Amino acid sequence: MSKVLGATPTRNLALELARVTEAAAMLAGRFMGRGDKEGADQAAVNAMRLVLGTVDMDGVIVIGEGEKDKAPMLFNGEKVGNGSEPEVDVAVDPIDGTRPLAFGRSNSIATVAIAPRNTMFDPGPFLYMNKIVVGPEASGKINIEWSITDNLKAIAKAKGREVEDLTTIILDRPRHDDMVAEIRKAGARIRQIPDGDVAAALMTAWPDSGVDVLFGIGGTPEGVIAACALRAMGGEIQGKLFARDEDELRRGRDAGYDFDKVLTMNDLVASEDVFFAATGITDGELLKGVRYYGNHITTESLVIRGLTGTIRRINATHSVDKLHNLSALHY
Ligand code: FBP
Repeated sequence: MSKVLGATPTRNLALELARVTEAAAMLAGRFMGRGDKEGADQAAVNAMRLVLGTVDMDGVIVIGEGEKDKAPMLFNGEKVGNGSEPEVDVAVDPIDGTRPLAFGRSNSIATVAIAPRNTMFDPGPFLYMNKIVVGPEASGKINIEWSITDNLKAIAKAKGREVEDLTTIILDRPRHDDMVAEIRKAGARIRQIPDGDVAAALMTAWPDSGVDVLFGIGGTPEGVIAACALRAMGGEIQGKLFARDEDELRRGRDAGYDFDKVLTMNDLVASEDVFFAATGITDGELLKGVRYYGNHITTESLVIRGLTGTIRRINATHSVDKLHNLSALHY
């Protein structure tokens, strides 16, 4: 008989979240290359909302599709789940990489994270954040207040390599021109990506992804979602809210946001008890995209739990006929 060492393992909500991201990916994937960002987003939101309603949790959306009037579904403050314990904060990004999906490019994913109630950072309407993200080896060795060059040196030292050996990943945006120039001067390699900094953040913590650090300004909601996964993966993210102009800065300060404060991983999600799931929509380096075979559909998902640090990759085959008998969603 096996020896009981401690309490019985508790439920892994991330496994239920995989059903949520799978549904979103299967519906959104139909829009690949069709140039219809809105249609894809609506399909993913509908799917995500319907399946979230079946998850055993009393959830409140902290990171959603925006304010209630603009977002009829999955708006910030919306209650999700079937209302039973536990009480949780929920972050959704039904499609991270709407543009790549609409134009049939890579690395579009559907993702959801949850954490205990009142532990997720609420960015309000302040959508941009400067970020630095690293995997476990360089965790605790970075500081967003330092120059990019000093961070690169610290990461290289932590990894036992030279700066020239490091690969940085950064969104391809004009606002990053100075950062790119500094990275080039420091000698590190650069991958400029068109979109999708959740997947990019995860790559820094993924063995053999070939990516060592993410720099640059991206979405604050995406930063919170990535923080949930990185906590579980042993990586680190630091951020600083970024105002696009004086008016945004003033509105932010009036609302009590501090644009000079370094947001640590703990500020972004103040609990180890996090759950994260993502499903590939289009093919990417972390996850395969959705495949449609007539009467069945295949998906690949990543399921991560903070308390245990377990990372699962789930390959699923979905029977279209059977799902259509059971579900209101038309895959
Ligand atoms: P969406 O698919 O939700 O539009 O986000 C894509 C994305 O590339 C994010 O991954 C990133 O954080 C953000 O957009 C960057 O914003 P912007 O495109 O305005 O620079």
